[in-house]
Amino acid sequence: MKNSRPQGSVAYKNAGRVILVSGGAGGIGRAICEAFAASGANVVCLDINADSAADLPDGIAFVAGDTSLEDDCRNAIEFAVQTFGALDVLVNNAAIQPPSSYAPLHEFPTELWERMVGVNFTGYSLLAKHALIQMLKQDSGVIVNIASGQAHRTTRGVPAYGPIKAANLLQTRQWGVEYAREGIRVVSVSPGAIRTPLVEATLHEQGGEAQLANRHPLGRIGRPDEVAAAVLWLASDDASFVTATDLEVDGGLGAFGAFADPYPCPPL
Ligand SMILES: NC(=O)c1ccc[n+]([C@@H]2O[C@H](COP(=O)([O-])OP(=O)(O)OC[C@H]3O[C@@H](n4cnc5c(N)ncnc54)[C@H](O)[C@@H]3O)[C@@H](O)[C@H]2O)c1
Repeated sequence: MKNSRPQGSVAYKNAGRVILVSGGAGGIGRAICEAFAASGANVVCLDINADSAADLPDGIAFVAGDTSLEDDCRNAIEFAVQTFGALDVLVNNAAIQPPSSYAPLHEFPTELWERMVGVNFTGYSLLAKHALIQMLKQDSGVIVNIASGQAHRTTRGVPAYGPIKAANLLQTRQWGVEYAREGIRVVSVSPGAIRTPLVEATLHEQGGEAQLANRHPLGRIGRPDEVAAAVLWLASDDASFVTATDLEVDGGLGAFGAFADPYPCPPL
């Protein structure tokens, strides 16, 4: 049944809207699903991992799928539209950065490179393509791409993740320009280090938690709900004049302009 909590306060600016979040069963994606659901939105979580979706809170619909596969993307969008009648917001969040990806290019396994391109880049385009087909019928919609601080600046040991995340910024700008006159906004969010399974799995590669926290001017790593809060604002009509651009949610890290301490590899 459609969630129809009344609008009115800032927290409920997305109430009644239909939101699809990729990679919504874990980490930042789960926090985004939960925040939208708490604000009265109708939320569909798309994730490759049905097990970790088992304890999603009530009211969040789940569809299994791999965002690198076009049929799965088409199916997820159709599921959202059939279940809730529209698609107002797509959050492209599913991405991978396994510990084995911390390797210089000449040692990088080609299979892993192709998988990271498939999920972190092509997957964003495939899901957006099918979301846009629906949003164009509605003359409205918002796409939020989750990029990264590593989209803006780089360091050693991330020859796939960094350049592919940078491509997320250009996907945002290109789609934003292309669809601006169709009532569709496209924005991205670039998190700093956020406490999620992805970061916890690579803490060693990133020099340990204390060092990671200390690199951020705020002196700590971020929480998934702090990224979710930015996504909810960008998706809402409060951000109606914001498109084709990026917001860094990074505890001030980006203000350094470059990673001040490149050894060992910084996060994000
Ligand atoms: N955690 C951070 O510090 C950080 C920093 C910068 C950017 N990011 C970005 O934020 C996003 C979320 O990261 P996270 O830390 O929450 O990751 P995570 O690994 O904790 O969670 C990712 C989720 O995506 C799902 N997923 C993976 N591959 C998928 C696929 N092919 N199809 C569908 N679902 C898939 C996983 O099952 C998981 O639920 C990513 O785009 C990541 O690049 C994270």
